[in-house]
Amino acid sequence: MSDRRSFLSALAGLPFLPKALSSTAHLPTGPLADSADPRMPSQIRATGEAFWTELRKEFTLNKDETFFNTGTLGASPKAVQEAVIEHMRHVDRDIARWDYYADHENYFTGYYQEMQYRDRLAAVIGAQGKDIALCQNATFGMNFLANGLEMAAGDEIVATNMDHPGGRMGFELRAKRYGIVTKQITLPDPATDLTPDQLVDLYLGQTTPKTKLWAIPHINSGRATRFPVERLSAIARERGIFSAVDGAQSLGHLAVDVNALGCDAFYGSPHKWLLAPKGNGMLWVRPDKQQHLWSTIASSAWDDQQDRMFGLMQMGTGNLSLLVGLGVACDFHRQIGSQKVQDRIVGMGDQLREGLKKIPGATIVSPTHRELTCASTVYGIQGKKGNEIQDFLWNRAKIRVRSIGDHGVRHTCHIYNSPKDVDRTLALLTELARS
Ligand SMILES: Cc1ncc(COP(=O)(O)O)c(C=O)c1O
Repeated sequence: MSDRRSFLSALAGLPFLPKALSSTAHLPTGPLADSADPRMPSQIRATGEAFWTELRKEFTLNKDETFFNTGTLGASPKAVQEAVIEHMRHVDRDIARWDYYADHENYFTGYYQEMQYRDRLAAVIGAQGKDIALCQNATFGMNFLANGLEMAAGDEIVATNMDHPGGRMGFELRAKRYGIVTKQITLPDPATDLTPDQLVDLYLGQTTPKTKLWAIPHINSGRATRFPVERLSAIARERGIFSAVDGAQSLGHLAVDVNALGCDAFYGSPHKWLLAPKGNGMLWVRPDKQQHLWSTIASSAWDDQQDRMFGLMQMGTGNLSLLVGLGVACDFHRQIGSQKVQDRIVGMGDQLREGLKKIPGATIVSPTHRELTCASTVYGIQGKKGNEIQDFLWNRAKIRVRSIGDHGVRHTCHIYNSPKDVDRTLALLTELARS
């Protein structure tokens, strides 16, 4: 795309979406019920399997390989890949045309507000673009909070022992350097019988009058536990405690609405479940809390009072092509619909858990309480370590799950997986359990 005007107008719409996906007409509606998988939730059954089979064609994952590890990194659809590559080509070809006029195209990030990308991401989480800072990943978002929130020596924060380092270590750094205190919840492990009430009690049990912040993973990485964020945020608010939600595993997985969640901050890694290009991150902060958050990385606009979240985007030169891809990933996701994605993939998670319950020797390590489950499940097979299960599935059928050590594997279902993929995996796990 050598013509700059067509490129700019292209950015304004949804041009990168392949024709097949560029109108909702494509999103196969019915009458496909005859092909629907009976194990899917009823609202998804109405869509029919043909929709998802068609959608799978938008991905370049090798046909004979099954990828169940979106919890680590997502596989972007073709439209996203093409948008990034096309934009990178455009930059390197047309950069001499760059005239620096304010209303003309720019070729990198770091110095501009990037509103169109913030707006498109905001639309995914029910927010406004001005309340989002774009960054590299969830780890940046967490560190911005940990470093930048007004807290004094002796102030306490509560976090769990299983928080991902990218959801917690910034607070440890602040504790060691500036004397805040991190209070740690020890989560029951395995989490099989965990309940939402128990989780609430665990947070309250570590809370004192000095508590200033609760670090809450929306879904934790190690046990795929979905936390009751609405309840926790409401309790935190009543007590004047800042609720910081780690959405690395939930953005693009659950239908997230930050206002419904009621939290004060939400950060995430769109390169996981939202299937964005690798190296995209975000931090949303409730408008009335932004004045209490200082920038960590400063350049010209670090103290921008009109656009405080832009003040957190002062990272110097960055790669605009990744944001172009992020925008397309947001559009792609929204064309399917967050709730539809959630219903489909949590439906496969349910199918997997039901199947595991029937396999003698299989144990579900993740919670089984309805409100704490999601599209990810951690499970084990008696007598087998995680890497043995992982390698068995790969060597036998090119099915990729992720070992998490002695407890087994983490298995995450996404829109490029199908109930048949889950069936095949369960059949192999049955065989492994017998061996
Ligand atoms: C719950 C959770 N938080 C934070 C992170 C860190 O994400 P990133 O490496 O993209 O910053 C991860 C990564 O797996 C995670 O699972």
